[in-house]
Amino acid sequence: MASKYLVLGGSSGGYLAIMVSRLLGIEYGNIVVKKFPDEETYIRIVNDVAGKIVVYINSLQPSPNDKIIETIYTLYTLKDLGAEKVYAFIPYMAYARQDERFTAGEVVSIEILAKLFRDIETDGIYTIDMHLHRISDPRALFGENFYNLTAIPLLADYVKKHYELDKPIVIGPDEESLQWARVMAECLGGLKYDVLIKKRVSAEEVIIEVANVDVSDRDVILVDDIISTGGTMAESLKALYNLGAKRVLVTCVHALLVGKAYEKILSYKPLDMVATDTVLSPISRVSIAPLIARTIEEDIMS
Ligand code: R5P
Repeated sequence: MASKYLVLGGSSGGYLAIMVSRLLGIEYGNIVVKKFPDEETYIRIVNDVAGKIVVYINSLQPSPNDKIIETIYTLYTLKDLGAEKVYAFIPYMAYARQDERFTAGEVVSIEILAKLFRDIETDGIYTIDMHLHRISDPRALFGENFYNLTAIPLLADYVKKHYELDKPIVIGPDEESLQWARVMAECLGGLKYDVLIKKRVSAEEVIIEVANVDVSDRDVILVDDIISTGGTMAESLKALYNLGAKRVLVTCVHALLVGKAYEKILSYKPLDMVATDTVLSPISRVSIAPLIARTIEEDIMS
């Protein structure tokens, strides 16, 4: 008898969809995504989804604008083709940092993106460590079926297994990273944690101000949600070594590693760099597939 569950992956989610289907022993389906010669997106859902409970996985990076079109078109079509239920897993949610009109006339991108998701009326939208800084209630934007999961415990497990750290302390590079630093510290057995002070000069440039943190002669686990241009991590490494830190392990959930970010951070001599595979990168050593699989089991299959 054909299973009622089907896992599908978009062009930034196929690898996760395959891993999740293996972990849960459910069918993995195919979607063809191509570009027409004029750059418009062509999508075809190959499997028959009528009457099925479908889980669709796609990250909105790299090429966020293309991934948004692909994701929204696919989710809409899954409903249109008669899927009984449609769940969207968006491991990396784009535009979460454009959550305010910082300068007159600016587009508040995340509000519009959330409305696009809401209008499709999927049965659940799941994301991972979305950049919730000024957004206090994401459900007010995305609707009641929105869930923000965290991959920090998985990163912490990796740190525990792979590094012998001396007098470790967890540090976040800025005020909003306190949420991730706190969870990382708890998962590592109640370590001390603190944050630095960051001032953003431009999209590419930040200044880290030396906060009153005591890292002298200690190993530091530096944790943030996103590495984009690498400026935040590079400047934090510089500040922490200036404060006398022994070694600094760079960790993050979403390694976008735009341009030369990887080289930039490496040049400041971190002990190592570790991220999850919400977005595939050279430092994606921790898979979020078990987190997605567990969530499907608990929320969707039970
Ligand atoms: C924003 O504050 C985020 O939490 C990250 O700190 C930021 O996106 C990192 O950007 P970049 O790598 O370009 O400094």
